[in-house]
Amino acid sequence: MELGDMKMGSFLLLAILAFGLVLNVSANAEVDVLYAWKTNLTDPNNVLQSWDATLVNPCTWFHVSCKSDSVTRIELGVANLSGPLIPQLGQLSNLMYLELFDNNISGAIPIELGNLTKLVSLDLFLNRLSGPIPGSLGNLQRLRYLRLNNNSLSGSIPKSLTTIATLQVLDLSSNHLTGDIPINGSFAFFTPMSFRNNPGLKPQKFPPPPVPMFQIAPTPSAEGPSSP
Ligand SMILES: *[C@@H]1O[C@H](CO)[C@@H](O)[C@H](O)[C@H]1NC(C)=O
Ligand SMILES: *[C@@H]1O[C@H](CO)[C@@H](O)[C@H](O)[C@H]1NC(C)=O
Ligand SMILES: *[C@@H]1O[C@H](CO)[C@@H](O)[C@H](O)[C@H]1NC(C)=O
Ligand SMILES: *[C@@H]1O[C@H](CO)[C@@H](O)[C@H](O)[C@H]1NC(C)=O
Ligand SMILES: *[C@@H]1O[C@H](CO)[C@@H](O)[C@H](O)[C@H]1NC(C)=O
Ligand SMILES: *[C@@H]1O[C@H](CO)[C@@H](O)[C@H](O)[C@H]1NC(C)=O
Repeated sequence: MELGDMKMGSFLLLAILAFGLVLNVSANAEVDVLYAWKTNLTDPNNVLQSWDATLVNPCTWFHVSCKSDSVTRIELGVANLSGPLIPQLGQLSNLMYLELFDNNISGAIPIELGNLTKLVSLDLFLNRLSGPIPGSLGNLQRLRYLRLNNNSLSGSIPKSLTTIATLQVLDLSSNHLTGDIPINGSFAFFTPMSFRNNPGLKPQKFPPPPVPMFQIAPTPSAEGPSSP
């Protein structure tokens, strides 16, 4: 830029910034998403101070990592944050690690997090999340770590989670989950440790209980060899 253009340039920049602040417009969709989330959070320790909505991308912000100028990691464990998760987080299409453990995050897990199909790790443990575990999380077919323990999650465990073949670590303990614990698919590997301290969850049974004798429908064990 020519030196003479500098003043004009600064003026234009200021004008654009002012315009952007008023209309909440920014050049980068990921900045918009994360800044919108920041405005919903209470951050007494100012860990999000570097989250400046006027930057061209969020890649220089603390607690955010990028690859090819797109967010791949959010690392905000033990940050004393309060507030909700927002549905727009599902738009961070390259996100691989969402680390928000040990905060004071409340409200529901947005079903839109099921759009984060590159996610490898979803660590929301030790917060105050409530409501159900969205079945959409079954779309996260690269997920290896799913730790939702020590929240107030309720409802049943979505069967869709059993289809995540990559799942290595599952911790749903210390919630208010109810119903049956799936035992098929990836869940065949998880022990009661993953589910403990959910008083409404029925204990796992291997194999499933036999069908009662008085049931009308014929069963293979009662009727001998079944037809093919
Ligand atoms: C987040 O903040 C926006 C604007 O400040 C507000 O309209 C919205 O209701 C908030 N969302 C939640 C989930 O708190
Ligand atoms: C967390 O924030 C609260 C204020 O909301 C403050 O009282 C407390 O000291 C903070 N805790 C830590 C560990 O920074
Ligand atoms: C946790 O968040 C709630 C609001 O959702 C707030 O009332 C409470 O003070 C927060 N607790 C701490 C320790 O920050
Ligand atoms: C994100 O998820 C929601 C709910 O699961 C869905 O309705 C929406 O179409 C998805 N958006 C994108 C961009 O995939
Ligand atoms: C999780 O909750 C259980 C049950 O309330 C508690 O025993 C355990 O210490 C909690 N875990 C952590 C790391 O605080
Ligand atoms: C496990 O069983 C449920 C039905 O109980 C089914 O919806 C789900 O797809 C099964 N998972 C796998 C990996 O086959």
